[in-house]
Parts: sequence; C-alpha cells; structure tokens
Amino acid sequence: MSLDLVLFGGTGDLAWRKLMPALFQAFRHGTLPAQTRIVGIARDDMDDDAYRALIRARFTQVELDKQPAQGEFDRFAALLHFVRLDLSQTGDYARLVGFLAQRPAQTVVMYVATAPTLFTTVCEQLAAAGLNKSHVRIVLEKPLGHDLASNRAINEAVRRAFSERQVFRIDHYLGKPSVQNLFALRFGNALFEPLWRRENIANIQITIAEDLGVEKRGSFYDGTGALRDMVQNHALQLLCAIGMEPPINAHADAIRDEKLKVLRSLTPWTEHTLTQHVVRGQYAAGTVQGAAVVAYRDEPGVAAQSVTETFVALRTEIANWRWAGVPFYLRTGKRLAARDASIVVNFRPAPHAIFDVPAGAANRLVINLQPRDGLELHLLALGQSGRRQSAALAPVQLDLDFDRRFGAERVGAYERLLLDVIDGRLNLFVRSDEQEAAWRWVEPLLDAWKASGDAPRAYAGGTWGPSAASAMIARDGHCWAEEC
Ligand code: BG6
Repeated sequence: MSLDLVLFGGTGDLAWRKLMPALFQAFRHGTLPAQTRIVGIARDDMDDDAYRALIRARFTQVELDKQPAQGEFDRFAALLHFVRLDLSQTGDYARLVGFLAQRPAQTVVMYVATAPTLFTTVCEQLAAAGLNKSHVRIVLEKPLGHDLASNRAINEAVRRAFSERQVFRIDHYLGKPSVQNLFALRFGNALFEPLWRRENIANIQITIAEDLGVEKRGSFYDGTGALRDMVQNHALQLLCAIGMEPPINAHADAIRDEKLKVLRSLTPWTEHTLTQHVVRGQYAAGTVQGAAVVAYRDEPGVAAQSVTETFVALRTEIANWRWAGVPFYLRTGKRLAARDASIVVNFRPAPHAIFDVPAGAANRLVINLQPRDGLELHLLALGQSGRRQSAALAPVQLDLDFDRRFGAERVGAYERLLLDVIDGRLNLFVRSDEQEAAWRWVEPLLDAWKASGDAPRAYAGGTWGPSAASAMIARDGHCWAEEC
C-alpha cells in the first residue's frame, strides 16, 4: 500500500513531541506501509533536509523506547518531506496538490495538528483543491472548539468537505492500552457484567491527576481550563467506557452509539447541583515530589488575576435503569500529589455481616490507567492473629500488572491511533454527536462560572486539590480512594 501522511502544523509541539515519535516507533516496528511519505506542512521556509534535521534535533528531547541510532534515523528521515504552506493563503494549497500528484498514493491522511481556529479554513481549502476524495482521511486534534456553538461550527465545516467515514477525531485517551483493556475487561469477560449495576455498586470514581503544572502552555491553558482541557473529552470518554451498555458488536458505530447514550443520560445540571456537586480549584505555590513549585498565576503566559480552573471535581449520575442513583465522581487537576489516572469501582458491603468487618470495608475494583496499568481486586479475608485464626476480616488484594505481563510488546496511544487511521478503523475515534453531547453537558458549568465571577478555590501544589472536593464526596457518605 502507498500512503501520504500530511501533517498540518508540521513544526508544532504536537508534531515533534507526539506524532513524529509515534510514527518513528511504527517505522521501527515495521507497521508503516512500505511506500510511505510523511509530509510536514508549515509556513517556515525550509527544504526536506532542513525539516529532517529539525526533527532529528527534537528527537533527543522526547521519550522513545530507545533513541535511534544514526542509520536507523536516516532510514526514517528518508520518508520525511516538507511543503511550505500558509494555511490561510488559498494559492498555497496548489503546492501541496502538486507535491501529492508526483506520486498518487492509495491512502492520504491529512492530520490537522493546528490551532482549532484553522480547522474550518483547512477543510474548505482541501475541498476546494480537490483533496477530499474518498481515499483521503482527515484527523482532527482536540480541542474541537471551546463551547457547543464553536464545536458545531467546526463539525459543520468538516461535514461540508468530508463524509463522517473519513473523519477521525482524536481523543488520545482512547488509544491508551489501559483504556483498551477496560473495554476488554467489560465486554470480553462475563464475570463482572452481572455485578455491573446499581444493586451492587455504591459509587464509581474517575481520577486523572497530573503532578505537572501547565509547563510552557500557560497562555493556551489560561483561555481553556481543566473542564475544557480534560473533562469534556478524556474524563467523559472514560465515564462512557465504564458506564456504557455492551455494544452489539465491535464496529465503530455500535460502540459510539452506546457511548452517546451515556452522554445523553447524564443528569442535567440544576441550580443546586451546579453549586453542590462541582468544585473548581486553582493551584497555589506548593511542593511536588520534594521540589518547590510556583502558583498557577505566576506561571509564564498566565494572567496575574486569572480565574481559570486547574482542578475540577464533580458528581454526576447516569439516569438509566442500570445506574440510577449511583454517584459517578470525576476529578482531574494539575499540580496534584501524583501522576495517577484510575477508575475505582466501589461495591456495596455484604448485606449481612457475620464477621467483624473494619468500618467501611467492602470490595473494590481498581482499574489503574497510568502510570501503572493493571487491575486490583480488593477482597476481604480472614486475618491471622498469632497462631489463632482471627474472626475479623482484613483487606487482601489480587493484583494484575499489565505492564509486567505485556511490557515490551505494547504500542503507545498515538502509534496505535495513527495505525488505525491508516487502516481506516474508526472504533477509537469520537463521532461528532458524541462531542456535541459532551459540550452540551459541560456548558452550563462554564456559564455558571462566568456568571458568578467567583475565583476558583486555591489548593497548594502537591496536594489532592481543595478540601471542598473531600467535603463534596463526604456529603454522600463516601470518600476518595486515597482517603479510605
Ligand atoms: C491533553 C491535555 O489532552 O492531555 C494536557 O491538553 C494533559 O493538558 C494531557 O496534560 C494528559 O495526557 P496524558 O496522556 O499525559 O495523561
């Protein structure tokens, strides 16, 4: 097969941090089609060799299984090309048309890794240049808009140029091996399904915690915040994966239909829940892993009086027969105590106790997403005290470590997603109606925050966020996994 992969934003952060390394790994694993050209697009004035040198220099700053040896990089670099193009200049697209026409490829992937404000222009220009035929696929990186209206406008522009089958909207969380395993756990095993419902489950907690701050993305992040950056997409996709009904098959639309139903079943916000079931925070100075860190407002690119949230915790419910009344807690933030993404399923306690049970003890399934990837099943067993069997139950744990089990064979999220685009598999990509449903649900929060004019609650860097997040969950008689 012959492939042209065109990277709009070819010199941008995403290109050299994530996409090029992923393409390089695919090259190393021998999974790129034999006749592949990777075409970087940007306004800079450079030729193929200068582009190859730029990517080579950047590779030393990114995480790879192992850094390429010179010969190995040279073989990969031979696939790289560069076309200078100002995305807003209609005439410039002719250069891309000319380049692609030199060797018509069977599959062309247009990867739009630019600011979302350019998505509409790029789609219109590609259509005008005839680069939207059925062998062309388009990949769009988040954020797709900053609210429902802007998201719809982008989706409409995309639809005018491409059919839905050609559109790959990335949520890189769906490409993580641990998230794949979550689908496998639920729909490849019969064991949990009968338990997976309100009768047995007390609550579910989804945490995506980062210990990093906003790094060099201060000015982008300050106009975005945690709700748009993480909740609208990654956290809600995880919620769908844990809460959806079993799809009728593994085809893209069967999966996406079920995810959409979850998003549409989320309980609508009310005046009460907007204040009682949401906590937003912003990091103050603190200590992370022993090192002093500055406050969010002192980060480069961030406004001195910024009211942008770097932390959100919220409680919601999925209003259907399976889940009615079960709280789902979502939490994400920057500069928290640790990098840790996990889903904790807390089961209800045994209905009648014949043993001494430690207060609050019950079964728990922990799905570790990162940095560890695996499952922990927390059970209760009779403890041993001296030479006598104790009558009290003590927690024990079954541990399954997928990293140890599959370590070297695993494929990273971007590599996996890029290969899926090349093969035309849409399962792990988000459909426009899912995105719109997610925006529709988060928008009342954005509106309420804007209307209130209140600042987010401050939390010290290196903690688990504002104490109000613990108070919120405690009102239901529950606690976050690290607290109990
Ligand atoms: C991105 C967000 O989508 O996901 C970043 O824009 C965040 O702010 C990142 O840091 C987290 O991804 P990962 O894969 O490191 O958990």
